[in-house]
Amino acid sequence: MKVRQFEKQDMAEVLAIQAKSPLTAQWPESEYAHLAADPRGTFLVAEFETMEPVKVLGFAAFYRIIDEAELRNIAVDPAHYNQGVGRALLAEGRRRLLEAGAKRIFLEVRQSNRAALALYYSVGFGLHSQRKDYYHDPREDAYVLSLELFPPAVVPAIR
Ligand SMILES: CC(C)(COP(=O)(O)OP(=O)(O)OC[C@H]1O[C@@H](n2cnc3c(N)ncnc32)[C@H](O)[C@@H]1OP(=O)(O)O)[C@@H](O)C(=O)NCCC(=O)NCCS
Repeated sequence: MKVRQFEKQDMAEVLAIQAKSPLTAQWPESEYAHLAADPRGTFLVAEFETMEPVKVLGFAAFYRIIDEAELRNIAVDPAHYNQGVGRALLAEGRRRLLEAGAKRIFLEVRQSNRAALALYYSVGFGLHSQRKDYYHDPREDAYVLSLELFPPAVVPAIR
């Protein structure tokens, strides 16, 4: 699997995945375009290079201010759930953000979004706080999760 920076020609596929993902923030095209053009944005797409024709499997949009980053949006094509796409997007985002100087990543997630919560916990996010009635339609509280990037995790040597 390859995770790379978003390019203009990916826009239609990103919007199509968003349309299939009611649990993700529904952005107009202009919001993605702004993020892609903003040096504080990290906008990634995943693809299988071996697939013919190559197609976008999912995307993740991060925003960084100095040493704090936020995961603003993430979605995977439902036809490719549970293939490691979400995890690969987070891993590459984390790598790039750390390189850019971020020390932690925050995100908000619906408390009922079990798949997203399982993904975030599996890559090391922890509960930071809770936001009452953060979401509408339907109304729901948010968990704010955070992931410390710095100092980079030390992988114990294998004996
Ligand atoms: C959340 C989402 C991005 C996960 O993407 P994905 O590519 O299917 O996730 P991955 O295959 O990388 O899964 C990584 C880990 O997450 C967890 N996970 C993912 N989907 C899960 C599910 N449906 N149930 C339980 N755990 C799940 C597992 O721990 C999994 O690790 P494992 O395969 O080793 O068990 C995807 O379900 C999605 O696009 N959902 C709709 C949009 C959304 O909710 N966005 C988040 C808004 S905050």
